[in-house]
Amino acid sequence: MQEKIIIDCDPGQDDAIALLLAMASPEELALLGITAVAGNVPLHHTERNARLMCDLGGRGDVPVFAGCSRPLVRELVTAENVHGDTGIDGMEVTDPTQRLQQQHAVDFIIDTLKGAEEESITLVPTGPLTNIGMAMVKDPSILSRIKRIVLMGGAMREGGNYSPSAEFNILVDPHAAKVVFACGRPIIAMGLDVTHQVIATKDRVARIEALGNPAATATAGMLNFFNRHDSAKYGFDGAPLHDPCTVAWLLQPGLFEGKECNIEVETESPLTIGHTAIDFWGISGREVNATWIHAVDADGFYDLLTDRLARFGET
Ligand code: BDR
Ligand code: CA
Repeated sequence: MQEKIIIDCDPGQDDAIALLLAMASPEELALLGITAVAGNVPLHHTERNARLMCDLGGRGDVPVFAGCSRPLVRELVTAENVHGDTGIDGMEVTDPTQRLQQQHAVDFIIDTLKGAEEESITLVPTGPLTNIGMAMVKDPSILSRIKRIVLMGGAMREGGNYSPSAEFNILVDPHAAKVVFACGRPIIAMGLDVTHQVIATKDRVARIEALGNPAATATAGMLNFFNRHDSAKYGFDGAPLHDPCTVAWLLQPGLFEGKECNIEVETESPLTIGHTAIDFWGISGREVNATWIHAVDADGFYDLLTDRLARFGET
């Protein structure tokens, strides 16, 4: 049976690839809508990039909504140094034909959940959690309709990627992240500990490029751009492909290993704001509120991604 999902994202090359992976998987995933949030680049770019992915994926049926233009409390931090000025540098950026919906993303999330059965819709956030946190605060009655939340965010063993202790998505809006981790619904958290295992090596990008269809060509272009920054930063043989881990987990959870634990978000300390305190060994006595994913079969992940991107070339 299809799992109903809403992807809340800030494309971003890796968000864009997560969208393509979901769009290529209609047997498993019913993509009800895409909600954009400010993060990697400002909102007017992230919503446009989401619409471009609908064009590229041939999915004019998926509505795109613009959400919050800044975090709940803090000033917006963006990451053009990683993603380029467009957010999806490496592919051709044009005006999308897919139009933007008038409704605000937060209201789309609320209305969709309110119209759904209990525990029936999965949220897939791959950017700062502003839209999701805002929806939960605006109308807490939506919580019981959420099946689970499969998100990209946080870090434990890998340390931070935007401050010494914080991962970017959580750092940008730690207050929204705190709301989400306290929401009481099942959370599957994909942080840097796992995403740093799915490296877009030259060979893997070459396999994608060889597919030759427009979506695969755009993906390879984006990965080549993304790889430059992260290879230099980490000394890896390519960039970690963070956000598609969420969709890959929905498609093939057996590729991943995780552990149930308590995760809390630091919102006070100037030094460690955005840090995820992940109680991997159950030391705190605090209640389990998430599954922390910490390992992945990286070759299996790239096989899945490559197979699904190949579908865009089929008639
Ligand atoms: C996360 O931050 C962004 O740069 C990526 O899109 C990903 O969602 C990784 O820390
Ligand atoms: Ca993202």
